[in-house]
Amino acid sequence: MRIDILTVLPELLNGPFDHSIIKRAKDKGLAEIHIHNIRDYSNDKHKKVDDYAFSGGAGMVMTIQPIESAINALKAERDYDAIIYTSPDGELFNQKIANSMSLYTNLIILCGHYKGVDQRIREHLITQEISIGDYVLTGGELAAAVISDAIVRLIPGVLSDETSALSDSFQDNLLSPPVYTRPANYKGWKVPDILLSGDTKKIENWKHQQAIERTQRLRPDLLKDSED
Ligand code: ADE
Repeated sequence: MRIDILTVLPELLNGPFDHSIIKRAKDKGLAEIHIHNIRDYSNDKHKKVDDYAFSGGAGMVMTIQPIESAINALKAERDYDAIIYTSPDGELFNQKIANSMSLYTNLIILCGHYKGVDQRIREHLITQEISIGDYVLTGGELAAAVISDAIVRLIPGVLSDETSALSDSFQDNLLSPPVYTRPANYKGWKVPDILLSGDTKKIENWKHQQAIERTQRLRPDLLKDSED
């Protein structure tokens, strides 16, 4: 999978992809993440990428030209499955969307900034608009990092044990059961006996029951979603 991220603040994306699982995915050639500075595509002599809103009011709007030029340059090289725009008014990101995006070969993520992008970009160039939650970030970069992380780890071969993605919270609309490691007794805080029993069938049942109980208690909306 190849992800091209378009941003006015590339520095913000220096860290998230250079560690742990995502770095391993890149090293193994399973994912490529390219960060592009939108300013590099501006035809303006001062490399301007924003302008005042026609409607007036506070805040700048990202202009069409640099973004269209950046997207066109990328599209000239390869086909893209999706051109995503990160914005608080997009579709709420979840595991189901991450699963479907993990099947993409090439995608572009445009990070919103300032008051957002000129609406015509959304109408003519963007194919999917994604929000990562009902709160407003200073820009779309962190959202792009969250989306990229969630989808890259789902690419087959990225996680060393592929079943570990299948058993993630949300994969079946259930939260994960609790996990424990050694020691079995820490100052009187004990691991549930069943986990020490060696009876794999009983342990699997227990885990499933725990997942259902936790989901009912913490996220009953997920159980409702799976009925729909
Ligand atoms: N940009 C600002 N806030 C955002 C959010 N919640 N999700 C995606 N992009 C954003």
